[in-house]
Amino acid sequence: MIAYHTFRNLIFTTAVAGIVLSGCSKPAPQGMPVADPDNGGLTMPAGFAAFKVVNELGPARHIDVSENGDIYVALNNMSKGSGAVALRDTTGDGRADIISYFGSVSGTGIMLHKGFLYFGADTAIVRYPMIPGSLVPDENYQLVAYGFPNEHQHEAKPIDFDPQGNMYVNVGAPANACMEQMRTKGSPGMDPCPILEYAGGIWRFKDDELNQNQLTDGYRFVTGTRNCVALRWNPVENKLYAVMHGRDQLHQFYPEMYDEQASADLPGEEFLMMDEGTDFGWPYCYYDPFKSSLVLAPEYGGDGTVTARCESKTDPIMAFPAHTAPNDLLFYTGQQFPERYRNGAFIAFHGSWNRAPLQQEGYYVVFVPMENGLPSGDWEVFADGFSGRETVMNPGDAEHRPVGLAMGSDGSLYISDSRKGTIWRVIYTGEENHAEETASAMETETVVMADLPGEDVYKSTCLVCHQADGNGVPGMHPPLTNSDWVTGDKERLIRIILEGIEGEIEVNGEIVNSVMPPQPTLDASQVADVLTFIRHSFGNDASGVTVEEVQAVMDDMD
Ligand code: HEC
Repeated sequence: MIAYHTFRNLIFTTAVAGIVLSGCSKPAPQGMPVADPDNGGLTMPAGFAAFKVVNELGPARHIDVSENGDIYVALNNMSKGSGAVALRDTTGDGRADIISYFGSVSGTGIMLHKGFLYFGADTAIVRYPMIPGSLVPDENYQLVAYGFPNEHQHEAKPIDFDPQGNMYVNVGAPANACMEQMRTKGSPGMDPCPILEYAGGIWRFKDDELNQNQLTDGYRFVTGTRNCVALRWNPVENKLYAVMHGRDQLHQFYPEMYDEQASADLPGEEFLMMDEGTDFGWPYCYYDPFKSSLVLAPEYGGDGTVTARCESKTDPIMAFPAHTAPNDLLFYTGQQFPERYRNGAFIAFHGSWNRAPLQQEGYYVVFVPMENGLPSGDWEVFADGFSGRETVMNPGDAEHRPVGLAMGSDGSLYISDSRKGTIWRVIYTGEENHAEETASAMETETVVMADLPGEDVYKSTCLVCHQADGNGVPGMHPPLTNSDWVTGDKERLIRIILEGIEGEIEVNGEIVNSVMPPQPTLDASQVADVLTFIRHSFGNDASGVTVEEVQAVMDDMD
């Protein structure tokens, strides 16, 4: 087990990586495109350079690159009427000059395989036949696998293939810890967790059969994985790996056992090596990186130290800081980067939201050196600077968030961003870094919070998702700033708190398709207080909500 790094020594790690690499410089490879003077805003170890292939595609997710350098990008929501984009450079400068939107489904997974472009839409895997000589595939897709749960959270369906004709699909658990009442304080964990029957694992399918139903034709390859957006077949080890999103909200649900710091630092995000039939322990166990072991979750009677029931589950091969959201994994098999990168793992972290009220972390791409399929040294930040600032307090402040990784046939590393849809290409030139310091000095955050009794309820109940600045988490937790849902009809607003809200809604012109659990632990006066607070904060200026108004809706619900 490799020692766990806290953020306090992260900066140190990056600096060391820079020094080690500057020793092995080599001339820039022939015909390599010229990097951007500022490396596209990224910082990397010495010898590496980067440039933006394209600037703003929309809500990008995973990417793949064809043999001839064409790039395929999955979009999280339909953008310009399409769910995917194809990019081509026709001039040899590495920048995309043809940008073609296509495809009638959106999602996360995308992978070229055996003459098809496979696409992981949120509830089905489809494939577009590639047309020889054409950038854009045949838009009439074929249905490969279907029947996945549609539960508005953890729905990303990343895919990969083994050489034996199998396709692997992540089926994320639509839950935090399989509580009886979703994300609700005091609600115990369901035992056994019924979600594991149809989600919380990796399912295996045939790569060349159509119309496979998840439950009748698919095979549950591993279980006990909450959500593995980073999923990749390692072609050298001939094995499947993933990096898992760990559970959230320990402090919010169990403040007597976990303070804010512990909750921000637990559990570790787990790097998993997947053998058929393995159980990684979710929801019963979570990984404590400080104890280097799986411990029993509080929903199942754990107290933060008990390991019973978790001893039969499989530990990760490495852990990363909590809540940093690993969203893609790539084993580097190219020749372009120096020897030490061969067969090592690059992991794109999307960055946290569940560290609030503490500083957010993890808007970077890391590298893990590997030998014989296991980490052979500590992980290090490889590419940073995506957020465009020193510190991120609110996820909405990050300019970019890394999400997808791909390798070109020349060994270049491609990185996608979910906020604007920027794609970077990272190359190794062997030259000293010439980038100027790019992270802008932190601007003073002016979070307008009204001085009202509801502030405490907001901080203990809502801030975790809607954030201190009320701007939420893009694409996941909608903003309360300027929202008509907040300042408009009071009864509708009260019902959101009492009953929760689920499915597609429009907030400030953007579509969110997620789930907010009801807040049954709040009494009428707390609901009135917190709603009065949000109607007066974050630039909102609407009338308050009274206890009587809340009580009237409650009476109506009984
Ligand atoms: C676990 C995360 C979470 C918590 C905790 C949470 N919300 Fe939400 N909230 C959401 C999500 C996700 C949506 C959008 C649901 C959808 O897509 O249908 C939402 C929607 C809303 C909306 C309507 C849309 C908007 O942005 O204006 C309001 C108002 C709101 N929440 C207020 C609150 C308040 C007040 C609290 C605390 C009492 C709270 N929420 C706690 C996740 C959360």
